[in-house]
Amino acid sequence: TVWEIMKYIFNIPPPAKYGGRHTVTLIPGDGIGPELLSHVTEVFRYSCVPVDFEVVNVNSALETEDDINNAITAIRRNGVALKGNIETKHTMPPSVKSRNNLLRTSLDLYANVMHCQSLPGVQTRHKNIDILIIRENTEGEYSNLEHESASGVVESLKIITRYNSLRVAEYAFQLAREKGRRRVTAVHKANIMKLGDGLFLECCREVASGYPDITFDSMIVDNTTMQLVSKPHQFDVMVMPNLYGNVVSNVCAGLVGGPGLVPGANYGRDYAVFETATRNTGKSIAGKNIANPTAMLLASCMMLDHLNKFCIVPCIFNIIFFLLQLHTADLGGQGTTLEVVQSIMRNIQSKGQLTAEM
Ligand SMILES: *[C@@H]1O[C@H](CO)[C@@H](O)[C@H](O)[C@H]1NC(C)=O
Repeated sequence: TVWEIMKYIFNIPPPAKYGGRHTVTLIPGDGIGPELLSHVTEVFRYSCVPVDFEVVNVNSALETEDDINNAITAIRRNGVALKGNIETKHTMPPSVKSRNNLLRTSLDLYANVMHCQSLPGVQTRHKNIDILIIRENTEGEYSNLEHESASGVVESLKIITRYNSLRVAEYAFQLAREKGRRRVTAVHKANIMKLGDGLFLECCREVASGYPDITFDSMIVDNTTMQLVSKPHQFDVMVMPNLYGNVVSNVCAGLVGGPGLVPGANYGRDYAVFETATRNTGKSIAGKNIANPTAMLLASCMMLDHLNKFCIVPCIFNIIFFLLQLHTADLGGQGTTLEVVQSIMRNIQSKGQLTAEM
């Protein structure tokens, strides 16, 4: 592909690492992003995690793409980023693309991974949920190819390629095998979108044939959302096109306690970007010291795992430990963000470091 050739010509370097320390791009974003990320840096600093953050601000009020291009360049240099969500205003002209989307497509972050898991101490209708969702992350309905072909008639293109569907399916099956999972379910609407979703499904089936140890099945997206809220335990690993992934991952976040709890990761061949799974800015609760810091802190644990140098078990343990004792408002508690972060730091102090060298 063109990208392969570009990579060969420009010789993309490995992630930045100086004197045993990793440099990670930090994009505060909008809404609660900046405060959550300031807590992450505080927790890292407190527990001496050998990661330096290069902060790159992106101003979503601007129409030019200079800011996001700077951020993308920084991620190309460092290889890894942790980000808050960047707001996309509906009132902007259609030519202004979503910054978040630009970032994912420019860095070819083709797979989005979300681990939806019941957490200790969080009251939910369904218990013991453990679902891995792999979402196609760069095409589908997010192609930004829209035009008004006649007055009052808009065409909005959904792009599905064999190339991308195959590598997303491959990612899902590889992850399933690596994590000892037994079943992969492809989510689709191929009964209506026979060609587009049909291709996606066909690619999943093709990849599945190389993994005889893992059961493959498929489910239509509308039935999937219904099955998820009524019988979520039937799901193990799920793989799906972009927009269904958006909807399904939000349903799953709701199942385990809400957007404040679940981290998300975007992976490509060369770069990785970590954020909260539901990708909302949380504008209405920004600056009030009430946001749940769990999702972003867990995202930072996933980031440490990706940097491959750390055993993240103590990281996750330290972060979810507070759930047994102190809840923020989204979980029906009265704890503030700061109190939660401080309780995590106290826990680190009594139980040891955030990470252990491997
Ligand atoms: C929905 O999924 C369930 C569980 O897999 C299945 O038994 C049922 O037949 C499906 N319903 C439809 C309408 O596809």
